[in-house]
Amino acid sequence: MSVDLSTTYLGMNLANPVVVSACPMSAELDQLQRLEEAGVSAAVFPSLFEEQIEHEGDELSRVYDFHTDSFAESLTYFPDQKDFHTGPGEYLETIAAAKKAVRIPIIASLNGSSHGGWIRYAKMMQDAGADALELNIYFVAADPDMTGRGVESRYLELVSAVKESISIPLAVKIGPYFSAMANMGVQLSDAGADGLVLFNRFFQPDIDLETLEARPQLHLSTPSELMIPLRWIAILHGRIRASLAASGGIHDATGLVKILLAGADVGMIASVLYRKGVAEAGRILADLRHWLEDHEYESVEQLKGSMSLENSPDPTAFQRGNYMKTLTSYVGKDI
Ligand SMILES: Cc1cc2nc3c(=O)[nH]c(=O)nc-3n(C[C@H](O)[C@H](O)[C@H](O)COP(=O)(O)O)c2cc1C
Repeated sequence: MSVDLSTTYLGMNLANPVVVSACPMSAELDQLQRLEEAGVSAAVFPSLFEEQIEHEGDELSRVYDFHTDSFAESLTYFPDQKDFHTGPGEYLETIAAAKKAVRIPIIASLNGSSHGGWIRYAKMMQDAGADALELNIYFVAADPDMTGRGVESRYLELVSAVKESISIPLAVKIGPYFSAMANMGVQLSDAGADGLVLFNRFFQPDIDLETLEARPQLHLSTPSELMIPLRWIAILHGRIRASLAASGGIHDATGLVKILLAGADVGMIASVLYRKGVAEAGRILADLRHWLEDHEYESVEQLKGSMSLENSPDPTAFQRGNYMKTLTSYVGKDI
């Protein structure tokens, strides 16, 4: 039996649901070609950051001054000028080069948090040939005077502004820390997001006890992180116009199958590629095909969302259900 692995994401027909998540590997053209050979159906470029764009206009020091007046936290949040390796011009050139080097769709990534001139790069990425744009909104609401409603408005205004400036599809990548996550998903979709990428990882600062400096750490993910996107994708599937991408903790076909059952249109992978190499994408795809064959599914479409909150035999499992029972029945078997 031949299984149909195709899926749709952001209105694009993709050969299968394995997409490279935003990371530097996608913008290394030799790696990108190897990823395409391994079978991935699309790749998200690493982000071009708001700060990089402001820096290009020699405005970084102004941004620094503005923010350091506002929050002590921003002293560590903003990277040093020397940390910017790739300028915006080079970023756009790499999109154009990638479009010549591979046939899979290229999704550019713009990363920021404030409404400003940097969002003009959305259109420039489109003009450079990007098939779609992922807007990663990474905002740390450190101001005690800022309300949850204020944070939500900030996200929605940014999404509307970027959406107005482009005609290619727009995905919005966010973190999971909203008090009304499902409603925020609906609002983002209504504001113009054609897709949601769930979730962005917040790199939490740690304290170095020798230097007494606070430093964000980049750790590769573990499969247990999948449970956060799994819950929210299951909750949102079928109840929102935007398509859904899962990011965080997909390390093998098992994770991919689970996230598709929950209702994702695609599963994005990054850490597993860094840990095991580019060829792992091919293994995940082969294992997905075998799983579908073994369980007599004809297509990925048939699988998608069949365990979502709407379709699950026990929808309460994605909400508060079993919470108390899980805690009280624990017998310490891991000790
Ligand atoms: C080395 C590395 C660089 C990354 N760079 C970006 C980035 O530029 N923009 C972005 O939105 N996410 C970035 N991410 C986050 C990934 O796209 C992804 O959301 C996250 O790693 C969770 O997926 P995973 O469990 O498959 O790694 C990066 C991740 C890694 C490991």
